[in-house]
Amino acid sequence: MRGRIFHIGQLRPPLIILATLLLGACLQQTYHPPHAPAAPRHGMVVAGHPAAADIGVQIMQAGGNAFDAAVAVQFALAVAYPGAGNLGGGGFAVLHTDTGATAALDFRETAPAKSHRDMYLDSAGAVIPRASLDGALAVGVPGSVDGMARLHDRYGKLPWSRLLQPAIDLARNGVELTAREAHKYNRYREAFLTLNTTPPPLVRFDRPWQAGDTLKQPELARALESIRKLGRNGFYRGELADRLAAGIRRAGGLVSEQDLQNYRAVWRQPVNGSYRGYQIHSMPPPSSGGVALLQLLQAVEPYPIADWGSHDTRTIHLLTEIERRVYADRAAYLGDPDQVDVPVKKLLDPDYLKQRMADISPDAKTDSDDIGPGQLPPAESLETTHFSIADSAGNAIAVTTTLNSTFGSKLMVPGTGFFLNNEMDDFSSKPGVPNQFGLVGSEANAIAPGKRMLSSMTPTIVEKEGKPFLVLGSPGGSTIITSVLQVILNIIDHRMPLQEAVNAKRVHHQWLPDRILAESGALSPETELTLKALGHVIVTRKSIGQVNAIEIAPDGTLSGAADVQRGDNQSAGF
Ligand code: DON
Repeated sequence: MRGRIFHIGQLRPPLIILATLLLGACLQQTYHPPHAPAAPRHGMVVAGHPAAADIGVQIMQAGGNAFDAAVAVQFALAVAYPGAGNLGGGGFAVLHTDTGATAALDFRETAPAKSHRDMYLDSAGAVIPRASLDGALAVGVPGSVDGMARLHDRYGKLPWSRLLQPAIDLARNGVELTAREAHKYNRYREAFLTLNTTPPPLVRFDRPWQAGDTLKQPELARALESIRKLGRNGFYRGELADRLAAGIRRAGGLVSEQDLQNYRAVWRQPVNGSYRGYQIHSMPPPSSGGVALLQLLQAVEPYPIADWGSHDTRTIHLLTEIERRVYADRAAYLGDPDQVDVPVKKLLDPDYLKQRMADISPDAKTDSDDIGPGQLPPAESLETTHFSIADSAGNAIAVTTTLNSTFGSKLMVPGTGFFLNNEMDDFSSKPGVPNQFGLVGSEANAIAPGKRMLSSMTPTIVEKEGKPFLVLGSPGGSTIITSVLQVILNIIDHRMPLQEAVNAKRVHHQWLPDRILAESGALSPETELTLKALGHVIVTRKSIGQVNAIEIAPDGTLSGAADVQRGDNQSAGF
C-alpha cells in the first residue's frame, strides 16, 4: 500500500544489478508497487530512515492524524537513526491544521542552570577546543520528549501509548542496518569508546557492523517504555531522570535533576511572509531559520531568476551576495527571544531589506577578504534529520530534530540507551570565534542559564491560497536555510517537479567564512570561472543538506520526495 523509494544500499547484490538495469536514471523516482494507488491521497511521510517512514504511515492507516504520525516517527528515528533521531536532543516543528491554523513548536534544548557565558574559555580567555562538542559538558537540557508530549496533548487523536509502541518494538526486536548506518557506527567506534566508560550498544567487539545486521537496544526500549507509561514525567522525573542527571554529573556535565524537571517546550507563532503569491510559514527564533528564509526570499523576489536559470552565474552570484548579508544579520541580531530582544519585524521590513541589499553589484563580489582553508568547518560528519508529514484531512507538519553533531556529545549515560546532544556548541562560546559550522555569533547568542541556543533549523510550510502546498525542511547546520531556500526557488521559480527540485545540486554562502560552498557538479566549469572572476572563492563539498519534502496538489494528491541521493531518506504514502 505504500509508494516507496528504492535504496540501493538496501538491495541485495543481484537485485542491485536488476534494479540498476531496470531503473537506470529513474532510480531516484518514487516507486509505486503495482497494487498501490499511483497518487497517494490519504497520508504521506518523508523521513530520514525507511523504518520510521513506514511507522508514520502505519499510524495514519490506524486512524491517526499527521500529528500522531509525527510523534511516532520522532520516537522511531530515535531508535533507527540514533546519530540524529533522538530522545536526548531537541528540535522544532511548524504545522498547519485542518482548520487552517498554523503553529510552531519549539522543543529546543536549554542551557543548564549552572552554565555561564565563559564556560568554554580557558583562564587566558581562549576557547577550549572541543569542550562544547564532546562529552558531558556539551550537553543541553533535552527537549524532544516534552515537545512530543505537547504536540500530542494539543493535536493527537490516538492514545500516547499507541504512538510509542512501534519504537519500543523496533528497539526490542531490532532494526536492520542500512549500509550508511553500519559504516557510521564503525566510523564513530573510537569516539564512543573514548567518551564513555561503559561502551554504548553501538560498539561491537566481534567484528565491524555490516549492512543487514540487526541492532537491538533493550535499554532504549526500557527508556521508551517509561515514557509510554508516564508521558513526559517518564523522562524528566523519576528513575530515568535521576539516572541521567547522575550520569551527566559523574561525567563532568552540568545538566541536573532540576534542569530536567524544569524543561518546557514552547508553542510559538510561526514567522510568516509571502513569495510570488505563496505564503510561507516557518520557524521563529530561537531558530534563525524562518527569519533568514523570509529575508532571503524577499531579497530574491525582485530578480528574474526564472529567466536566468537555477545554476546560472547570475543566480549563484545574487544568492551568494544576499546570503552574505542575511547571515551577517543572523550573527549580530538573532538569539533566544525569551532572553534577548530579537528585532524580527525590523529584519523583515521591506524598506530595511531594500536598503540592505542596495549595494549588491552584478559585476563583483562585495568583499574579497582572503579566506584561508583553516576556517572551513571540520570534516566530521554532521547530522540532523527532517521529516514532513501530511494527511488527507489537511493537517501537515514539518519537524526538524537533532543531537547537533552526529551522535551529539557521543555520551550515553549507562543504562539509558540514548545519546545526549552537544547543542551547547550552537551558542557563541566567544564573540567572533566560529562554531563547528563556521558560524560566528555575538552577545545575542551568548550562553546564559535556561537560554536556548540559536539554531538554523527551518521546518517550513508553504501555502497556496490558504492551503498547504509544500511541507519541507532539512538537516545541514548552517546550510539548512539555503537548502530549504533553493528547493522553494526550484519549485516556484524554476518550475521543477518536486523530486528534481530536491535532487538538484546545491550551493551555499554564510557570510563567514567568505566562500561559496558548492556540491560537486553544481557549477559548470564556465560558471565557476566567471564566479571566480567576480572575486568569489569556491569550495566543493560532497553533499549539502537533505531535504525531505511533500507537495500537495489542489485535488489533495500527495507527492513525497525523499532526498535519496544524500541519505537513507524515504517517502511512504498510501
Ligand atoms: O540547530 C542547529 O542549527 C544545528 N544544531 C543543527 C545541526 C545540524 O543540522 C547537523 N547536521 N546536519
